[in-house]
Amino acid sequence: MGGVPAGPGGGRPRVYVTRALVPRARDELARDFDLAIHDAEAPPPRGELLAAVRGAAGLVTILGDRVDAELLDAAGPALRVVANHAVGVDNVDLAAARARGVVVANTPDVLTRATAEFTLALLLALARRVVEGDRRLRRRERWQWAPTFMLGAGLSGRTLGVVGRGRIGGEVARLAEAFGMRVVHASRGGGLPLDRLLAESDVVTLHCPLTPETRHLIGARALGLMRPAALLVNAARGPVVDEEALVRALEAGRLGGAALDVFEREPEVHPRLRELENVVLAPHLGSATREAREAMGLLCAGALRAVLLEGRLPPNVVAAG
Ligand code: GLV
Repeated sequence: MGGVPAGPGGGRPRVYVTRALVPRARDELARDFDLAIHDAEAPPPRGELLAAVRGAAGLVTILGDRVDAELLDAAGPALRVVANHAVGVDNVDLAAARARGVVVANTPDVLTRATAEFTLALLLALARRVVEGDRRLRRRERWQWAPTFMLGAGLSGRTLGVVGRGRIGGEVARLAEAFGMRVVHASRGGGLPLDRLLAESDVVTLHCPLTPETRHLIGARALGLMRPAALLVNAARGPVVDEEALVRALEAGRLGGAALDVFEREPEVHPRLRELENVVLAPHLGSATREAREAMGLLCAGALRAVLLEGRLPPNVVAAG
């Protein structure tokens, strides 16, 4: 890998960041690079993004950014590294990056705990009707304690089917075992066949990456195999679930409920999902702890530093030209 390109930032490589970052990550990037940031939670309009990346040696992108040939070419030949501020890289065209000699890094490990804890939060909220109860109180509905009032399902002794047994799936399994759940898993590397997991599980939780093979993995057929009272949790990627098929199964009472942190056309939420009481909705908060987001930002900064300043590949590399 070559040297540091000279530029108006005092010879420091130019880096463009597509969203506001937590202060520590931002400060670290500002120390090492000639930094430009789209300093907002909303994405830059595509045209603005394509113009802003021109001449950048490094990019920090997030999961809503489409990192494709068009964007890589808009950046131009100076571009050497894209650090995707997420563990999933389904928004990045890895082949296009490889073809242009651009290194792609992600943020594994540091968000495993946060995402697994949030998965349990979703599951508990759904199984014990926490959000539904909160809504009732906010609507000022009359209520009183009664032996039959708002009964949910306990977790202990129930079977949890983990789809995708990577780092996050493994951590979810560990936490669920502490709640007394029996855990089974299905993944490319082994475990139960998916159909059997779906038929046996009281709760199905998704932790696989989004790939052409996993898109709509949970569609009408898979949902039809699940137990009628089963719960579905998705804190992976929205398109792993066929949302229309899920809505139909829920409306027909063929499923106990769903807790969703991710959506097929994010940030849009299927309007009929909002109408269902046995659905918990979250705005993609899986890794949203202060400590995870700080560590994710620092990992991105470290990847840019490795490639642009130290001429080496970072440990969190997912594609290298
Ligand atoms: C978040 O969804 C991530 O992939 O890190």
